[in-house]
Amino acid sequence: MEPVKIGILGLGTVGSGTVNVLARNADEISRRAGREIRVVHAAARDLKRPRACSTEGIRLTDKPEEVVNNPEVAVVVELMGGYEPARSLVLRAIENGKHVVTANKAMIAAHGNEIFAAAQKKGVMVAFEAAVAGGIPIIKTIREGLAGNRIEWLAGIINGTCNYILTEMRDRGADFGDVLKEAQQLGYAEADPTFDVEGIDAAHKLTILAAIAFGVPLQFDKAYTEGISKITRLDVEYAEQLGYRIKLLGLARRAPTGIELRVHPTLIPERRLIANVDGVMNAVLVKGDAVGPTMYYGAGAGADPTASAVVADIVDVVRTLTADPNNRVPHLAFQPDQLSNLPILPIDEVETAYYLRLQAHDKPGVLANVTRILGDLGISIEAILQKEPREGENTVPVIILTQRVLEKHMNQAIAKIEALSSIAGKVMRIRLEHLNRDWK
Ligand code: NDP
Ligand code: HSE
Repeated sequence: MEPVKIGILGLGTVGSGTVNVLARNADEISRRAGREIRVVHAAARDLKRPRACSTEGIRLTDKPEEVVNNPEVAVVVELMGGYEPARSLVLRAIENGKHVVTANKAMIAAHGNEIFAAAQKKGVMVAFEAAVAGGIPIIKTIREGLAGNRIEWLAGIINGTCNYILTEMRDRGADFGDVLKEAQQLGYAEADPTFDVEGIDAAHKLTILAAIAFGVPLQFDKAYTEGISKITRLDVEYAEQLGYRIKLLGLARRAPTGIELRVHPTLIPERRLIANVDGVMNAVLVKGDAVGPTMYYGAGAGADPTASAVVADIVDVVRTLTADPNNRVPHLAFQPDQLSNLPILPIDEVETAYYLRLQAHDKPGVLANVTRILGDLGISIEAILQKEPREGENTVPVIILTQRVLEKHMNQAIAKIEALSSIAGKVMRIRLEHLNRDWK
């Protein structure tokens, strides 16, 4: 049978990784796909730049539109990243009747509804396994493996760069900026690393996971997003002393009045498996009503792990080339006319527990005032820890863990605590989740 011809947009970390894996495992891959898969055309910005893969036999261009318009190419693999020109090129590829594989979570989270509608109309596939959690096949797992379940919630460490930074801060006492540079050198970070550290990349991925878990449209603009840039080594240390780890989590939950969709640093009890997922590794916990809690673990970034997911999608596309478009697995797991309009809840309406760190002047009655404010708002305290003042400081750090409370009530409490003359500066607030089976 004729080989299936592939065009690749982007030959950076993931693009080169994909060419390498396709070459290295060519025999195994064609035995699985039933056809040889051949990369014939690839685009990059700077054709003089050395590549981490062999480009022998691949026509190179700095004009990506040549790849999407090449009649020989059956599958376009978009590995450039960013919103534009990726979106326009993918729409053009679809218009030209080509199947698309992409690792671009930003594009899928922001423009996926438009892209899938175009693909549906044209009867082509758009596969995006590598867009979430790198090498972990989490899209296929939720979309197909858990298709019998009503998904109740999911929680994931879905940004390798942030997990790498938090782990190195904890284990080596390393400085935030230094570790970020390392993550960039290792090829983990996005072209603009603020996407990683401010939680935007995780929010892109969470938006995609929530859509396929709950059968709702992609709604990136409604995700609550908070990154790790304000987390200090002190918080990491105090959390440890209380038996918790701080992780950047993406959380999506079917609450009684709507869907929670939030990315923020989170304290997790250290006895949980997911609290022990370190470095660039990712993990996603998914709770289905039938299967119960399940967890998926693997490398969340890097050339080969991400290529593993990209190549799996290419194989899937090649296997289904001849299948009736109406009998394919739907892009977002649920049939396009069966999406639900469950609202995404604003963060004020989300209930969670909290870690609070305040700087208190060391005088009588301070703690009593703070606990009174919390008590008046119905906020129960789980634990309190008062630390020694640090050298040269005339205030003492006080750490409070609370039970679950609506975010809007916690906001009121924090405003009142910050207004006390005995409290210096701002209250540091980090949300806390126990991640137990019944979300309590
Ligand atoms: P890189 O920056 O390493 O590679 C991007 C590639 O696209 C480069 O080869 C670049 O060319 C090319 N490119 C960019 N813009 C253009 C353009 N306008 N015209 C032609 N070529 C262009 O990114 P990554 O490989 O890290 O990421 C690619 C995608 O994969 C992104 O969507 C990213 O979010 C996603 N992803 C990345 C992971 C990772 O671990 N890195 C993991 C999972 C997903 P040139 O080399 O000449 O500059
Ligand atoms: N920048 C991303 C991360 C790449 O660090 O997780 C993988 O999607």
